[in-house]
Amino acid sequence: MPSLLLRGGRIIDPAHRIDRVADLLCVDGTVKRIGAKISGADEVLDVAGLVVAPGFVDMHVHLREPGKEEEETIASGSAAAIAGGFTSVAAMPNTEPAVDTQAAAEFVIQQGRRAGKANVYPIGAVTKERKGEELAEMGALVRGGAVAFSDDGAPVQNAEMMRIGLQYAKMFDRVVISHCEDRDLCGSGVMNAGVVAMTLGLSGMPRIAEDIMVHRDIALVAATGGRLHIAHLSTAGGVDLVRAAQKRGLRVTAEATPHHVALTDEAVREYDPNFKMNPPLRTATDVAAVRDGLRDGTIAAIATDHAPHAAEEKECEFVAAPFGVIGLETALPVVITELVEKKVLSLVQAVARLTAGPARILGIPKGTLKPGADADITVFDPKSAWVIDPSKFRSKSRNCPFAGWKVRGRVVHTIVSGKRMDP
Ligand code: DOR
Repeated sequence: MPSLLLRGGRIIDPAHRIDRVADLLCVDGTVKRIGAKISGADEVLDVAGLVVAPGFVDMHVHLREPGKEEEETIASGSAAAIAGGFTSVAAMPNTEPAVDTQAAAEFVIQQGRRAGKANVYPIGAVTKERKGEELAEMGALVRGGAVAFSDDGAPVQNAEMMRIGLQYAKMFDRVVISHCEDRDLCGSGVMNAGVVAMTLGLSGMPRIAEDIMVHRDIALVAATGGRLHIAHLSTAGGVDLVRAAQKRGLRVTAEATPHHVALTDEAVREYDPNFKMNPPLRTATDVAAVRDGLRDGTIAAIATDHAPHAAEEKECEFVAAPFGVIGLETALPVVITELVEKKVLSLVQAVARLTAGPARILGIPKGTLKPGADADITVFDPKSAWVIDPSKFRSKSRNCPFAGWKVRGRVVHTIVSGKRMDP
């Protein structure tokens, strides 16, 4: 494989506290050396003025294969990942059928390899068919390559099932990713419960529905010693609970999505289904709390919850539309525009939440540029201004809440195992 030299970029590797202008050399698919004035590579890219970061890791995507290939496939989803600077993605198991067997996990890995773009990791279901009734074959899923467990899209409503799930996952040193939602409290809600929902005449999903499950799952971690990760944390109460659990020394982590830190439930006023997702957009108080959580490290990962839906499914009235928005191709600019430029996070913190944070939670050897590591690298221009146009996306779906946004921050090169995969 030809060697590749990235010359003169700002290298940011939060896992090893590196933030300096230098050259970076990749040889045989790994990072060989970071230093001044390196020469003698087969290919040289001048990246002066650009940021050279570890390849981004998205620990929460829905790639819809098998079962809903008209919305996304592993190939189209991993092309979208590359376009957005994500070199590794972890695919949620709410496919049809669900990823609840060894063969299903192996299929995801195989399709990822066949696509030959981003690294695709399967997340196994906690329960068979994600029904919440019977534990999935977790050992077999681990053998098939599952890096974590989740029934995402649905909560594990039965506390005993979640307790056993945490206990089993602990035996395999895997994290359980929890979609925290009390179904009874949410009822038929379609957006955040509050003033906006009342004004619009839409039924609400109260914040307590999320908080109560975060609370329950933390209690189950205390009882089992298991490892819990809260998906798409969206409430101020949830952030407080996670922070307090971490102070107690419990093994609890969390992620936030770009849409939950950039938008509030005010965005729903036009009844546009591209602002309908689960958990729903919350209030300005919640957004501020989630941003604080990202800043102080309570929330160690930014994850997109990339949830493609076909146009005909989303082009209907708000109440009837499915929950979910895409995010792989807009995460970096939204994070830079809403969090870095507004001084919520430093650029180094933002890179950490997109790289080392999620890699550590999943326990995968990614998210760093340390010599010897896989040469998975994202080169981006943090200043480049552009307008988000979903018609240009690599994803098969267009359900994006940021269409028309003027943003800053653009991916220039995405490199996987030393190979340029440029969008
Ligand atoms: O909005 C959402 N969409 N939230 C989820 O938890 C699942 C996802 C999907 O699969 O569409």
